[in-house]
Amino acid sequence: MVQTQPEAKRVEELRRLLQQASYAYYVLDAPIMEDTVYDRLYRELQELETNYPELITPDSPTQRIGERPATHFTSVRHNIPLYSLENAFNIEELQTWEQRWRRHLPSQYSAGEVEYVAELKIDGAALALTYQNGILVRGATRGDGVMGEDITQNVRTIRSIPLRLNFDGLENIEKVEVRGEVFLPLEVFKQINEKRQKAGEQLFANPRNAVAGTLRQLDSRIVAQRQLDFFAYTLHITGMDDSSIANTQWEALELLQRLGFRVDTNHKLCHSLNEVAEYYQYWDTERLNSPYMTDGVVVKLNAFKLQEQLGFTQKFPRWAIALKYAAEEAPTRVENITVNVGRTGALTPLAEMRPVQLAGTTVSRATLHNSDRITQLDIRIGDTVIVRKAGEIIPEVVRVIKELRPAHTQPFIMPTHCPVCGQQVVRESGEAVTRCVNASCAAILKGEIEHWVSRDALDIKGMGEKLVHQLVDKELVHSVGDLYDLTEDKLCGLERMGKKSAQKLVSAIAQSKNQPWSRVLYGLGIRHVGSVNAQLLTEKFTTVEQLTAARQSDIEGVYGIGAEIAQSVSQWFLTPANQTLISRLQAIGLQLANTEAPKAAGETNPNFAGKTFVVTGTLPTLKRDEAKALIQKAGGKVTDSISKKTDFLVVGADAGSKLEKAQSLGITQLNEAQLLEMLEN
Ligand code: IVH
Repeated sequence: MVQTQPEAKRVEELRRLLQQASYAYYVLDAPIMEDTVYDRLYRELQELETNYPELITPDSPTQRIGERPATHFTSVRHNIPLYSLENAFNIEELQTWEQRWRRHLPSQYSAGEVEYVAELKIDGAALALTYQNGILVRGATRGDGVMGEDITQNVRTIRSIPLRLNFDGLENIEKVEVRGEVFLPLEVFKQINEKRQKAGEQLFANPRNAVAGTLRQLDSRIVAQRQLDFFAYTLHITGMDDSSIANTQWEALELLQRLGFRVDTNHKLCHSLNEVAEYYQYWDTERLNSPYMTDGVVVKLNAFKLQEQLGFTQKFPRWAIALKYAAEEAPTRVENITVNVGRTGALTPLAEMRPVQLAGTTVSRATLHNSDRITQLDIRIGDTVIVRKAGEIIPEVVRVIKELRPAHTQPFIMPTHCPVCGQQVVRESGEAVTRCVNASCAAILKGEIEHWVSRDALDIKGMGEKLVHQLVDKELVHSVGDLYDLTEDKLCGLERMGKKSAQKLVSAIAQSKNQPWSRVLYGLGIRHVGSVNAQLLTEKFTTVEQLTAARQSDIEGVYGIGAEIAQSVSQWFLTPANQTLISRLQAIGLQLANTEAPKAAGETNPNFAGKTFVVTGTLPTLKRDEAKALIQKAGGKVTDSISKKTDFLVVGADAGSKLEKAQSLGITQLNEAQLLEMLEN
């Protein structure tokens, strides 16, 4: 059939109308046309294209869904690599990042105001789109950032991605690269899983997996049904001199919208990191009300000029960073449930899981706490579970996805006998913990010795976990006292232990006799006596004799020591076996009394006198213990947990629940620099 002028014109007109309607519906969320009208126009276009196939163009709205499934995806090279982002997990790390990029620039940028754009970090899959003369010619996955897969056919089905750019007034643009995130609204995700469940198909663990799985579908008709969506966040314009068209990320986001893309409207122009921090804190809770999943905030320097000057490292842009939300959850599968016996004899069930990335680290084990928790979770080997890691808290299993449970699984039952020594375990009424009470259980002994040699206790360098296990298994050591009987000869027979290492170790053990009384007390591993409590106790009871003679009520009289701690300490010193141990340690020559003269009055810093501090997270230069010691020296009290009585929280990187609690109680926070400043005054 011969193409006629009026038909060609009508086809053009229909495409324009349909495109406008789609844009209003899918991008602006503000329909301008009724569905029935849209359908009629769409059918008219389809008919014209059937009659005049030469009029079909790739940007026609009818071309969103491919006819035939693809057999494979081809690899394509990205014209501009897709970088990923460096992660920060708290505001302090964000500040470090700011200091870093400032140092990279000429001195006029070393201080002063600067503009950032804060955007939500959409949890989906990155997508690179290429437009040539305004027409979508390629959609590719990120792949490894350099090579991706050509998924153009699937990308076309995403309604909020324009097949043709809206070039109104921008006719000069030749080639456009747009990057953004494909995502699934939570509501759609739910519907997809409901459908899959009814069909007996395996469920998607989260929207991100569903997106990734969908984009890799060979049949674009299935992709079309999944209702994927897309937010654009990066614009690269090539083949055009006029760079004045967008000089900042803010302008680029505006331009993307004008070109016809959906842009997440929650981005914000910030003039300081404080404003960014506010944005982050706001979205940390508000994200729970969001119709799509986000996993943090992306902070970008607004000015392209600065972005260019800063450039990229091997992996990341220097001018942007992802500030992730503290708690991260991920699905994984439980491969086994094992039971660990700790220093106190407590049996702790552990889920051994398929390794999964969480908050920047690989997690393959999570504590299941105790048998109550196991019953509550009903966790079984083979289950798919959600694990969470929040700040400094160890990973834990949040819940089981029962829908994914394989057939024939058995509930997990706590063992009735210690998995290490075989002795019957006990669970006292009212207690959640099951314990091995065999004083000579090898697992307990190993735990006790590991604790004794650890950094905050006697700090015996070169005595790692493997060595401790050997010493116990070979029956060279039956109590911490036996460590001091070890000789080079005895040690030389052990795995990977040369003469030199043996020599060094014997000397490190001997040196530990100089460690102060507070560390020895902590090293004894008495329940509830952490390093801070040990410090508090040894300040009051300056010799072991005083502490042994103290009644529970005397111990409770120490500032910061509660009834539970006092009872535990008093009971420990009343136990004959422990008294024997103390005598032996005394004979060995360990410090069981303070040698330092007590602090003279007037030496204390008024900023610290009578004030209570808690230290959490990783500080930039000081070790936590060093910070605690400085505070104590200045006359401040240090406790292990936050309460209403806490005056200051000294907070470093990766702070977890303590920070949250301090925030909820409105407790003043100090970073390391502020602490040091207070100390100087
Ligand atoms: S900008 C060079 N902005 O996060 C700049 N990325 O961990 C690179 N993402 O691969 C990305 N929301 O898939 C940027 N508003 C946003 C984002 C965002 C989500 C994803 C993106 C990237 C990953 C980096």
